[in-house]
Order: sequence, then structure tokens, then C-alpha cells
Amino acid sequence: MPSTPGKGLEGVVAAETAISDIDGKEGRLSYVGYDIHDLAPNATFEEVIYLLHHLELPDETQLGEIREQLAREREPNDFVMRLMPHLADNCAPMSMLRTAVSASSARDPDGWDVSEEANYRKAIRLCAVFPTMVAYYDRLRNDQDLIAPDPSLSQAANFLWMLKGDKADEDEVHIFDVCLTLHADHTMNASTFAARVCAATLSDIHSAMTAAIAALKGPLHGGANEQVMKMIKEIKDLGGVSKARAYITKRLENKEKVMGFGHRVYKTEDPRATHLRKMAKELADKTGDGSNYEISQEIEKTVMDVKGIYPNVDFYAASVYGYLAIPTDLFTPVFACSRVAGWTAHVREQYADNRLIRPDHEYVGPEPRKWLSITDR
Ligand code: CMC
Repeated sequence: MPSTPGKGLEGVVAAETAISDIDGKEGRLSYVGYDIHDLAPNATFEEVIYLLHHLELPDETQLGEIREQLAREREPNDFVMRLMPHLADNCAPMSMLRTAVSASSARDPDGWDVSEEANYRKAIRLCAVFPTMVAYYDRLRNDQDLIAPDPSLSQAANFLWMLKGDKADEDEVHIFDVCLTLHADHTMNASTFAARVCAATLSDIHSAMTAAIAALKGPLHGGANEQVMKMIKEIKDLGGVSKARAYITKRLENKEKVMGFGHRVYKTEDPRATHLRKMAKELADKTGDGSNYEISQEIEKTVMDVKGIYPNVDFYAASVYGYLAIPTDLFTPVFACSRVAGWTAHVREQYADNRLIRPDHEYVGPEPRKWLSITDR
């Protein structure tokens, strides 16, 4: 009999990976051996995409190539474009993304080719097109003209451009680029695991992305960032920072979770939160609106005092995205625009050394019993 793992598969090693690693005790995260504290201020998101897929940093030629591939693949195909107005009218953002990504498989230029080369091209295409889907969706639902991707811009700058229609300043683009880097991969999180389970059946990469988006959507995973901003808004409505401690204490007394806190693996500060907190402060100073940051600080202090729990990546990301004027219900899709880099790398890693992922179970139902006809029950 196999031993029973912790509830929620806690502590179970589900796969070997060379893509990222976490030391939960020390609060360390690395991508392919590079510490996130080194990558966040220095690497561009394009370099990170390359690193996750090739397991090496790109040289100048390789970086130029991947930038060019990404810039070329940003437009959704015609089938998705016909679908987008219907999705904008009928779907919440993550449901739109799940459906649009699934639909995009229908006209993928590589069709059903599952060779390693085709899967790499599909992976880069998916990284390129996610942000356009999100930006087009937002503009369609607001009856605004679509803004075509600008091939001269980075992934970060281009997304802000397509979403808002004005060129963000350099500091904002840098901050958003760092956000994309910080969210790009995180070992065996729920959505990556979902993608790998799907890929391990030898299903296609678009199906694996659809599974990953579906898993990211939940409030215990990527959906938490949107919930954080809702909480900050509720505190603002109650009167602002002076009301934060009472609001959080009451929530904890009622055994409700405070979104953006806690983590299965980190037992100390999530290293991504360190960068996001700093960027939230920078943006608060720059915009002259300290409210999101101050309320966040008070929430953080209260959760630490009452429960001894640290903020995770989603907590200060909410403030940063708020300051960047990204609509709250796009926070989780924006997370997906970054994590697609990690998801696609994990799926390719799974294909390269595949075995069906099929865990065992512990049966807790009734002992074997005899069928009873309906009149004897
Ligand atoms: N607020 C209040 N209490 C919490 C929180 C929280 N956010 N997180 C954990 N706890 C408490 C929990 O109540 C439990 O306490 P007790 O032992 O007294 O019952 C203990 O800590 C262990 O919690 P758990 O839910 O069993 O831990 P887990 O490893 O199963 O869950 C988690 C991890 C992230 C789902 C959880 O911490 C949580 O629900 N956090 C809020 C949602 C959130 O921020 N999710 C984003 C996760 S990180 C980035 C991402 O994946 O998107």
C-alpha cells in the first residue's frame, strides 16, 4: 500500500524540474539557478521567457530573435478575433481568456504538429498573444477602438499601450516588466501542476494552457490578487487606513482568510513580495496617492500580529496594478500573461520525459455491499 500524503498533496514531489526552485524556509526563489533578487531588477521579461525555455540566458542574437518572434505573434488569429466581441459581451475576464486560448488552437499555424519544434513555436505564440487577448477584451467591453500591438515595444510596454492607448513612462514600464518577471514561474503551483497533468496524457499544449488558466482563476491561487484589491476598496469605503486593523481582526476572528497571505511552501517572506512592496511604495510616492500602500501596510502588520502569516506575491501586486491603473478584474489575467511563460516551459519539460501522472487514492467509502432493487431500499 502506498503511504497517504498530506491533505492537498502537501510535501509530495510531483515532478522533477530544472525550471525553478523554492527554498520555503529561507524564502528563496530561483529560475534555472538565478536568484529572483538578481533577476527582478536586471532581467527583462523577454530574457526570462528565454531562460525558462532554454535553461540558459540568451546572448544578444538570441534575445533579438525571441523579441522578434514575440512581436510577430501578438495578433490573435481570425477565428479568435471573430469570437472576441462575444466573449467581451458575455464572459468574465478569466473565462474569456480560458475560452480564447482554447479557441486559438483551431487556427494555430502549426496545427496538430506536436514535434518539439512546433511546440516551442506554439509556446512563444501563446506568450505573445495572451496580453493582446486581455487588452482587446477590455477595450471591446468598454466600446473603445482596438489598439494594434506595436512590434517595437517590449511585452510590458506593449501591453500597457494596447490596454490604455497612451505610452506609459519608462519607470512604469520597468515596474510592470519586473512584475511579469516575478510571476513567470513558481515550481509546482496548482496551475502549473494542472498543465503538467494535462500534458502528461499527451494532450496538446493549448489544452494544457486551458487547464492552467482554469486552475489559476480560483481565489486560493491567482484569483487572490483581485480579492486583495476588493478588500482594500472595502477598507477605503469604511473610512481608510484607520479602519484597516479592525476590519482585518474581525475577519480573522470570523475564521475568514485574508487574501494575499499565507503560502504552502514559504514559511517566511515570499521573496517576490519584497520587490512588490518596494514598487508599491515607489508608485505611491510617485502618484502622490499613498492610500493603497498605507492600507496594505496596516493589513500586513495586523495579519502578522494576529496570525504570524506573511504576505505572498498577490498581496502587493494588487497595489502595484492598482497604481498602474489596470482594472481590478484584469489582475488575474495579467498574472496569466506572465505565468504562461512558466506553464509552457513546464509542458515542454513534461513532454520531453513523459509518464502519465496518475496518483493513487485512499478509499474511505462503505464496505462492499449488495445491489438493492428500488423497492427494497
Ligand atoms: N488568512 C488567514 N489565515 C490563513 C491564511 C490567510 N490568508 N492562510 C493560511 N492561514 C491559516 C489557516 O487558517 C490555517 O490556520 P489553522 O491551522 O489555525 O487552521 C493555517 O494558516 C494553514 O492554512 P492552510 O489553508 O491549511 O494552508 P495551505 O498551505 O493549504 O494554503 C494558501 C495555502 C495560499 C491556499 C492559503 O494560505 C490561503 O488560502 N491564502 C489566501 C489565498 C491566497 O492569497 N492565495 C495566493 C497564494 S500565493 C500565489 C498564488 O498561488 O497565486
